[in-house]
Amino acid sequence: MKLFVCGGAGFIGSTFVRQRMREHGDEVVVLDKLTYAGREENLRDVAGEPGFRFFRGAIEDPVAVVGVIEDCRPEAIVNFAAETHVDRSIAAPDAFVETHALGTYVLLEAAREHGLRYLQVSTDEVYGSIEQGTFTEDSPLRPSSPYSATKTGADLLVQSYFHTYELPAVICRGSNNYGPYQYPEKLIPLMILNAIHGDPLPVYGDGMQVRNWIHATDFSRAIGHVLEHGRAGEAYNAGGPDEQTNIDVVKRIVELTGADESQIEHVTDRPGHDRRYSLSSEKVRALGWTPKVRFQDGLEETVEWYRENGWWWEPIRSGDYREYYERQYGRALS
Ligand code: NAD
Ligand code: DAU
Repeated sequence: MKLFVCGGAGFIGSTFVRQRMREHGDEVVVLDKLTYAGREENLRDVAGEPGFRFFRGAIEDPVAVVGVIEDCRPEAIVNFAAETHVDRSIAAPDAFVETHALGTYVLLEAAREHGLRYLQVSTDEVYGSIEQGTFTEDSPLRPSSPYSATKTGADLLVQSYFHTYELPAVICRGSNNYGPYQYPEKLIPLMILNAIHGDPLPVYGDGMQVRNWIHATDFSRAIGHVLEHGRAGEAYNAGGPDEQTNIDVVKRIVELTGADESQIEHVTDRPGHDRRYSLSSEKVRALGWTPKVRFQDGLEETVEWYRENGWWWEPIRSGDYREYYERQYGRALS
């Protein structure tokens, strides 16, 4: 296939690009705004390969989007482009509205105009929090944060383009991803790097919130399955094999890094914090997908990757991320 991957320089997008090029022989063109979270270094393994092209630009810019389509003639758009951090959406929601609402609209119009298939990468957070049981694709959408509310708006817009214009569009909703190349604002890489540096490990509230962890390679394979085999107009959940409390994840990272449990600090909780996410993935499993990476193995490998790839995170940890961290946590990194 020839894919137009938006947001392909981010954590999951770059994992997907590597996977599709290496394992499926796809050609890929990436459009990415290169926000603080997007880095061309994430794609250095495929940069220079004949089937790969990169353009810097925003999905809300129709000139950039149509320019790529006319230049590269892809068959399908896969949209990862998003503002992805819940805490940042609480502090400043504007970019979330612009990218998720306007950006998704621009991509859908371009797909309609040029006859392209469309896949929207979405999140379990559109369903809100669930104390018991699991969410299916038919569960009501009850997002809690500006991040998840704007992602939900994007999902609804995608479905409206299927119902109104018969656009062959599908949605794939993932649970919490982890793995190499994840920006260190997120729980797992933040805790790994703070543990290694002897910094405090800031656990929100009691740390008993539950997340359903999936390795980014497994989520990327689910997206590929939905793109190839999903039914137009449908959404598919892709959850990981393991649910864990945050405090258990942090304690395991302490063990794996040889840090000290006294580094753990319970800090003020996130406003509107969702208590538990849990996804049923039966529908995508019926398409032949199954997650391969066990959380304990994936976490160990991820810790190892961060230990061995200082070239990737050192520029982040010594750059703007320091200011973000100080604003968010009220203290400086070491
Ligand atoms: P990320 O923050 O690592 O990367 C996002 C990428 O999108 C970056 O490269 C950024 O530069 C780019 N981008 C942002 N705004 C853009 C715009 N307006 N135009 C073009 N590019 C833009 O995010 P991620 O964790 O890789 O998430 C990718 C997708 O997966 C998102 O849609 C997210 O909602 C979804 N998702 C993430 C998770 C998770 O746990 N990280 C789980 C489920 C779903
Ligand atoms: O569930 C899928 C979602 O997972 C994605 O759609 C989002 O893009 C992604 O950011 C992620 O959202 P979360 O808010 O669940 O991820 P985060 O890594 O920010 O937090 C995971 C849990 O850890 C959450 O309960 C909050 C908690 N946490 C997080 C940070 C950054 C802490 O306790 N301390 C922290 O410092």
